[in-house]
Amino acid sequence: MENKDDRHPSSPSATPRQGKAQRQKQIKKDGEVNKMEKSKNRPRILVIHGPNLNMLGKREADIYGKSTLNEINADLIKRGEKAGLFVEAFQSNHEGAIVEKIQQAVEKYSGLIINPAALTHTSIAIRDALLLLDIPIIELHISNIYKREPFRHKSMISDVATAIITGFGAYGYAMALDAIAGIIHP
Ligand code: DQA
Repeated sequence: MENKDDRHPSSPSATPRQGKAQRQKQIKKDGEVNKMEKSKNRPRILVIHGPNLNMLGKREADIYGKSTLNEINADLIKRGEKAGLFVEAFQSNHEGAIVEKIQQAVEKYSGLIINPAALTHTSIAIRDALLLLDIPIIELHISNIYKREPFRHKSMISDVATAIITGFGAYGYAMALDAIAGIIHP
């Protein structure tokens, strides 16, 4: 039976009989497991992107900027890691898929950032689904919806959201994550 005290000091499961390369491999494996364990325990933040936001970068760049959705998500994941949060992003062009994602979010996430895109102005179904959640909800728009056509001035979800960020471009996503981090770890 292996005596716990014989183990290599820097690696909990490496044994003295292992070669250097094997020990280093074990240390890396232990590190990865620890990292995975840590990331599992981080508060989870869900980011939902509505219709046509998969086209960011190509879509009306004068209004929505040049950043692609992948770039925005990658930045959020990185910022989340720094803030001790686990960020998961979801995009759909379908109202029902977004409603289902919100339903599945019940008791799984500590915060939600949602840009429902055009569905902001029409979807009572998304609004009703959001009412299921008991977590901070940030409504986000890349453009300033109040500076645009009158039909964009009405949001179905603003009064069920914790706060609204509108008109800061793609940087608004970083602001929203920061805001959620502040609410979760006051
Ligand atoms: C948007 C504004 C909406 O009016 C529009 O339909 C979108 C994007 C924004 O991020 O500025 O698709 O939500």
